[in-house]
Amino acid sequence: MERLPTRTCHSRITGMGSAVPEQVLTNHDLELLVDTSDEWITGRTGIKERRMCKKGERLSDYCVKACRRALEDAQVEAGEIDAILIGTISGDYRFPATSIFVQSELRAMNAFALDISATCSGWLYALFHADALIAAGRVRKALVVGAEMLTSITDWSDRSTCVLFGDAAAAAVVEASDGHEGVLSVHIGSNGDLAHLLYCKGGGNGKYLTEESIRKGEHYLRMSGNDVFKHAVRTMYRASVKAIELAHMEIDEIDWLIPHQANIRIMEATAERLRIPRERVFINIDKYGNTSAASVPLAIDEARRTGKLKPGQTVLTVVFGGGFTWGSAVIRF
Ligand code: ACO
Repeated sequence: MERLPTRTCHSRITGMGSAVPEQVLTNHDLELLVDTSDEWITGRTGIKERRMCKKGERLSDYCVKACRRALEDAQVEAGEIDAILIGTISGDYRFPATSIFVQSELRAMNAFALDISATCSGWLYALFHADALIAAGRVRKALVVGAEMLTSITDWSDRSTCVLFGDAAAAAVVEASDGHEGVLSVHIGSNGDLAHLLYCKGGGNGKYLTEESIRKGEHYLRMSGNDVFKHAVRTMYRASVKAIELAHMEIDEIDWLIPHQANIRIMEATAERLRIPRERVFINIDKYGNTSAASVPLAIDEARRTGKLKPGQTVLTVVFGGGFTWGSAVIRF
């Protein structure tokens, strides 16, 4: 097997926080919108309800709330932050980046602000870059955020997608670490050949917004769910194995699998292939649905806050999303 380099410098997560909209949309609410049922949605996805922003709310508002909570948890001042990296595909505006508004609102004026477009993998892509910048000595403290308002690009007449997504933001403070703790490995990848299976075309310069494009619903997210499902299971297993190898660990040393909350069946299939028992898999998809880039940090934050994930324990996290993109990490808390 390929010999992987041993890491010399680590980053670690010193605080986390999240923010979700108050408005709850249950499966029963969706039964009134499209031809679906609570039984179908629960059985096929594991989702019971999701949170949804109200019209006029901005994603950056949720990012700010999540960041404030993470900063407080880490006991770090906004002025100490060198970088704000936000994984999102549903930001406030086409430009500037959502992270720009977050910087201004937090008064994190010593930071640079950058959005990363990697669909559901956005938070792990952001973590990868924060970790690399910390290892290179270019950044000491970063806010790494995953945030999404996919309900703003959801076609509410398409039952195959509208039952899946929810809105949320979650943030981590990531700092340089002296010890052998924190982010033990982080891996990302992509396959642009499969972009046609999950996309939102309308509004870009490949597909200008016109009356006709709006009538055709080209500004909405489209997905070949079944194809994505098959690729997700295969890729999430492979990416998990890669993260464990990079951390020079064995699967038995992992305390928690905290996967992307896209579908309960994808999570169970990944856990089964990895031979991780169900009681070591953290799941909160029932409450939030698929929150895309926010899904992984939202789940890790909840696992920490509820005391399930204890200090010293090791998490394997893995994600898969449109692009296709994927990411995985082994993190000791
Ligand atoms: N209610 C009732 N029936 C439905 C619904 C619904 N909401 N949606 C689809 N169906 C029907 C279909 O029309 C089909 O009916 P038919 O057999 O008469 O044609 C039947 O249910 C089966 O449809 P499938 O698409 O094959 O259902 P599947 O079991 O694959 O589940 C799902 C669909 C939940 C979307 C699943 O494929 C999935 O989770 N895919 C992966 C999603 C994912 O991981 N995305 C990646 C991240 S998202 C991102 O990056 C933004």
